[in-house]
Amino acid sequence: MGKAVIVYGTRGGGTKRIAEAIAEGIRIEGGEAEVINVTGVKKEGDLQGYDGYLFGSPTYHGQMMQPMKTMLFLAEKAGLEGKAGGSFGAFGWSGEAPGRIFDTMKHILKMDMGSGPLRLKSIALGGGTAMAQAYGREMARKLKAS
Ligand SMILES: Cc1cc2nc3c(=O)[nH]c(=O)nc-3n(C[C@H](O)[C@H](O)[C@H](O)COP(=O)(O)O)c2cc1C
Repeated sequence: MGKAVIVYGTRGGGTKRIAEAIAEGIRIEGGEAEVINVTGVKKEGDLQGYDGYLFGSPTYHGQMMQPMKTMLFLAEKAGLEGKAGGSFGAFGWSGEAPGRIFDTMKHILKMDMGSGPLRLKSIALGGGTAMAQAYGREMARKLKAS
């Protein structure tokens, strides 16, 4: 069973809570998951050595947070081609960030992306925890199969 890294940006903590629930889902399936704040990723080597990658950012002013944009440039140099990927984020009404991250992982990083991005208004609303755990479980099952 492989190991996944979950890298999140946040201002209010909502996207961090989603990251933690995704990690729970991975662990429920018997996988390993490390949860890291995007500000802790300083060089491409910090992204190497994992089998799966989940990147998350909330949407502010229609965009992902700046540290996530910077990290995606580092990820471009980290050699993540073919690795399992997913994206997520908390949002208020439009929620562009998870889709933008997903598309970058797919088209630029050439990763093996799952069903689609996970967008949640809040982990506390409408079964959000279960949905985030399910997203983690999907990643873990993919890592088991590979
Ligand atoms: C100044 C400001 C701008 C925002 N812009 C957007 C936006 O363009 N689209 C959207 O869906 N949500 C927007 N939001 C809502 C946040 O995405 C939402 O509160 C989210 O839960 C924050 O996640 P976080 O706790 O991880 O920082 C905005 C919030 C603030 C305070």
